[in-house]
Amino acid sequence: MTGARLLGSGSALPERVLTNADLAAQIDTSDEWIVERTGIRQRHIAGEGETTSTLAIAAARAAIADAGVEASSIDLIILATATPDNTFPATATKVQHALGCNGCVAFDVAAVCSGFLYALATADSLLKTGMGTRALVIGAETFSRILDWEDRTTCVLFGDGAGAIVLEASGEAGDDASTAPGILTSRLHADGAQHDLLYVDGGPSTTQTVGHLRMKGREVFRHAVVNLASVLNEVIEDAGISAEDIDWVVPHQANARILDATARKLGIPSEKVIVTVDQHANTSAASVPLAFDTARRDGRIKAGDLVVFEAMGGGFTWGASLMRV
Ligand code: ACO
Repeated sequence: MTGARLLGSGSALPERVLTNADLAAQIDTSDEWIVERTGIRQRHIAGEGETTSTLAIAAARAAIADAGVEASSIDLIILATATPDNTFPATATKVQHALGCNGCVAFDVAAVCSGFLYALATADSLLKTGMGTRALVIGAETFSRILDWEDRTTCVLFGDGAGAIVLEASGEAGDDASTAPGILTSRLHADGAQHDLLYVDGGPSTTQTVGHLRMKGREVFRHAVVNLASVLNEVIEDAGISAEDIDWVVPHQANARILDATARKLGIPSEKVIVTVDQHANTSAASVPLAFDTARRDGRIKAGDLVVFEAMGGGFTWGASLMRV
């Protein structure tokens, strides 16, 4: 039996583009260093009036239009973000109100860069229990608002954006998971012992400020390759497939070198890895659905393809999910 199946996807980016050259004019860095170490060439940065919710609403509207359904038919909205508009209420409730589907379930998930994977697995599970029929799963972030723009080791790495998908509970007992569309399996993990390697140094209950992102990049890199390869192997084994069966890897877009190293560890050719980090940088919870929507719209990912999503982020948290589109 398969899980929830995809009906549509959408994404949104702020208008303003900040190139590596723009950054090099502000801080001690260079286009050459950023491209060589990360693969990033530019990122989009939210301007006045653009927030996590405005980006999420635009991505959600695009996904609902692509799905060809009415917003009022959505039963469940799960929004992954580490940069909500407000400490509370959940940004998902703002999205719900803008879409006009008031009354349905709406909440945020906080798992930083793995947030979309956590939201996807939660939506799939809730749809399987009969909590509803259609779910809107969103990853949306404005990391530019929690960056220390004087810290060259972090501020060059991130960007803003949003991606969304619409899912429908459709798996029937007896469906052949090797051909039927839907989520085959998901695996999630967290390790709170690694808190100090990637965190934000503020919050309502500690400093009463929003704080800034702090990261020990080299250590995060090392953990990322090991954890991502391990969770990818878990979903491959759980679904009873082999790495060669995968048509596309849609990874969290943190660093082109992490994408290469992880794919290499699994023996997946780099042509099967969707890469948008050059254009979007690391958009945290938004990066997986943004990359997925980009590759669906440019015709690479098609109906029937077997796609694996994977991400790792602050916490640490990490996860992977296999979906037949
Ligand atoms: N421009 C120029 N030089 C720089 C910059 C910069 N922007 N940033 C750092 N440097 C310098 C450092 O100061 C250091 O100089 P030194 O040797 O004189 O001390 C040198 O470059 C090397 O620094 P490292 O940190 O060792 O560089 P590294 O090759 O590890 O690359 C990077 C750094 C890109 C951050 C890499 O470690 C990385 O991508 N880590 C993973 C980040 C990640 O995946 N995050 C995902 C999760 S994000 C989330 O969950 C929110």
